[in-house]
Amino acid sequence: MHRPTKILAPKGKLGILTPGMGAVSTTFMAGVELVRRGEARPVGSLTQLGTIRLGKRTEMRSPLIRDFVPLAKLDDLVFGGWDVFPDTAYESAANAGVLEPGHLAKVKRFLGGIKPMKAAFDQSYVRNLKGKHIKKAKNKYDMALQIKEDIAEFKKKTRVDRIVMAWCGSTEIFLKPQEVHSSAEKFEAGMRANDPAIAPSMLYAWAAVTSGIPFANGAPNLTVDIPAIWELAAEHGVPICGKDFKTGQTLMKTILAPGFKARQIGLNGWFSTNILGNRDGEVLEDPDSFKTKEESKLGVLEYILQPKLYPELYGHMHHKVRINYYPPRGDNKEGWDNIDIFGWLGYPMQIKVDFLCRDSILAAPLVLDLVLFMDLAKRAGLKGIQEWLSFYFKSPMCAPELYPEHDLFIQLMKLKNTLRWMKGEGLITHLGEEYYD
Ligand SMILES: NC(=O)c1ccc[n+]([C@@H]2O[C@H](COP(=O)([O-])OP(=O)(O)OC[C@H]3O[C@@H](n4cnc5c(N)ncnc54)[C@H](O)[C@@H]3O)[C@@H](O)[C@H]2O)c1
Repeated sequence: MHRPTKILAPKGKLGILTPGMGAVSTTFMAGVELVRRGEARPVGSLTQLGTIRLGKRTEMRSPLIRDFVPLAKLDDLVFGGWDVFPDTAYESAANAGVLEPGHLAKVKRFLGGIKPMKAAFDQSYVRNLKGKHIKKAKNKYDMALQIKEDIAEFKKKTRVDRIVMAWCGSTEIFLKPQEVHSSAEKFEAGMRANDPAIAPSMLYAWAAVTSGIPFANGAPNLTVDIPAIWELAAEHGVPICGKDFKTGQTLMKTILAPGFKARQIGLNGWFSTNILGNRDGEVLEDPDSFKTKEESKLGVLEYILQPKLYPELYGHMHHKVRINYYPPRGDNKEGWDNIDIFGWLGYPMQIKVDFLCRDSILAAPLVLDLVLFMDLAKRAGLKGIQEWLSFYFKSPMCAPELYPEHDLFIQLMKLKNTLRWMKGEGLITHLGEEYYD
């Protein structure tokens, strides 16, 4: 067994800063406050409700995760953020229409007190968004410095002890890693030269990491998934993770696909379509923002089903993903999947999934878990890409020489084993041979 990692205690308050105070961010903030007041339960949150088995099955040790590792308490969380609209978290939540009026009324004062700071924004990266609550700067470097000042000011004003940043902003246009992203030095020069390959989300990431603040990326944007930020994360001892919260349809995909592969059931095609009517859906109407999302959603099946290893079963599958902006639905998305599978002797079968989900209700607990685990990671001295948090993402970040792990069940095992490893507990392999000696 390895020695436990030294983990600093979560003393004082933990500040949570979200660039983007839209549906996901405000549903998360409102939810934490409702839970703190005993008005609702934190369903969907592993850090609040999950347990972890320790030792042999005969030992019957399964504490709550939050009793096993020292996580910040919900009572110690303090919120802030940025947005291109000046609406308070209350106005934004009312506009998003996720929470019922009864719930909203209970947290009106609390949310009304959370006012966004001016955004670092450029409409060429999110075309379907027009806001005026925006910083002015002479170049991108200056803009990033202003974000650093905002962070320092927030820390002073709220007297928080530590901060975590979670990107809950819109999906930006599709960007590929380029020369300017290849080192911290080139990135800084690129910011000064207003390089178009540096998107606003990267400015927040740079500001966070160089301020020693962990950064989790909830959108599919490149943001922290570039060598320049990896380098800075190592230098400043900061954990980073992303990309793109794994919520509705992709969550279902990464639950079902591992099952097909486990039973060697073949797949001819998987057609996924969505209708949604929130602001996220509106942003994704722009083909360049959709491209970023599409790349993130499409990778999943390839990696889980491994067509190169199983050409007979998965070598000819067609995978399509569509997102349609349909305002009457609001945040209550409908995700349809038509799955064409085949079994023994090649006989075809079909599965239809119609998931009537609530996007932000699924995403909010992920934000909570991520900020608590990222704060833990930082106090445990972990830095750079936190692959153990792949569980939460559609396009998990991993070391450049690896492929990402998408299977939800492997991801969960990895997450829990990381917690056991941190605390010096034995890892669980499920071998179980010792019970039959
Ligand atoms: N809800 C889900 O299930 C889910 C799942 C995976 C990923 N996501 C991603 O999470 C993000 C947030 O989703 P949402 O439903 O809350 O969207 P939303 O449109 O309600 O909120 C995003 C907010 O970000 C703001 N914004 C955009 N660019 C900004 C910038 N540069 N600085 C500051 N603010 C900025 C927008 O004004 C908006 O208020 C999106 O990128 C979405 O794709 C959501």
